[in-house]
Amino acid sequence: MAITVLGIETSCDETAVALVNDKRQILSHALASQTAHRAYGGVVPEIAARAHLQSLEGLVRQALEEARLTLDDVTGVAATCGPGLIGGVMVGAMFAKALAAAKHLPFAAINHLEAHALTARLTNDVAFPFLLLLVSGGHCQILLAKGVGEYQLLGSTIDDAVGECFDKAAKILGLGYPGGPAIEAAAKAGNPSAVPLPRPLLGRAGCDFSFSGLKTAIRQAVEQRSLTPAFVHDCAASLQAAIGDCLCDRIQNAFDMCEIPPVALVIAGGVAANQALKARVTAVASQHAVPCLSPPVELCTDNGVMVAWAGVERLRLGLVDDLDCHVRPRWPLAG
Ligand code: KG4
Ligand code: ZN
Repeated sequence: MAITVLGIETSCDETAVALVNDKRQILSHALASQTAHRAYGGVVPEIAARAHLQSLEGLVRQALEEARLTLDDVTGVAATCGPGLIGGVMVGAMFAKALAAAKHLPFAAINHLEAHALTARLTNDVAFPFLLLLVSGGHCQILLAKGVGEYQLLGSTIDDAVGECFDKAAKILGLGYPGGPAIEAAAKAGNPSAVPLPRPLLGRAGCDFSFSGLKTAIRQAVEQRSLTPAFVHDCAASLQAAIGDCLCDRIQNAFDMCEIPPVALVIAGGVAANQALKARVTAVASQHAVPCLSPPVELCTDNGVMVAWAGVERLRLGLVDDLDCHVRPRWPLAG
């Protein structure tokens, strides 16, 4: 029987609903980005949860309309059940469970990180095992994806996530938020060796990351100089080069740590949008004779499609969750 899953994502500040089928077709995607947090300089969990509650029903209707389907055409319901801001996760999970209960549909409790991990199987039809570099404002890890529900954590950040480093450095440089795109643009006009910056953990064993030292080094460099446009460009280019060196070194180690050779390197998360970093990481993958793939940017950042697709992947394997399953603020994909 064909599988069509309605997926709900509410773990941070995007409320998103999508319909995806097991033919790898995205039937619809309705997304509302919350803007009320801007005044606070970060996501306020209570505001996020209330906003999810307000927009969810409308987005479910919109997703069904866009796909020209009714709830009777849906064969399963999936929702992010963690990790994330728990108030928002509860809103999405309860909404999805209620839909599943009312329509007697199977429910899939989705790990948000697994949803990011599996997206490249929807967009690029990647087989297992593949190496996953998950890099965003909140995530920073390297995993070996061996199968649905089967992940080996090879390394993660011991302090800031890489997107967080871009954002904090951009703030120091007066480039605004989100910092990643601004730094990438500024770096094009800068000299990557102009500002000496550390390469935290470079050359060390393992695949862990550390980025807080880079942010501090940028702050110190800025304290000694006036922020001329040329200097900002040089800082941006130097930071991007340092981050690139760290990512490449860690990915090299990840390839060496894999017992089974991966068929691809997949980059997911908002930082995957960075073309300069992608080019550098691709070079490492090429040395191991595998492609470097990333889903389109709109599916790399938080979205509903990835949750619906993870639902397809799990439900077609018969992995159905009970309606009394818990939501989890912390939920590591692998130990
Ligand atoms: O996945 P995402 O939308 O949200 C989460 O953080 O979960 O990722 C956003 C992060 C931000 O830190 C942003 O600065 C970073 O991704 N980012 C980039 C670029 N575009 C977005 N970082 C580097 N270069 C970019 N072009
Ligand atoms: Zn995410």
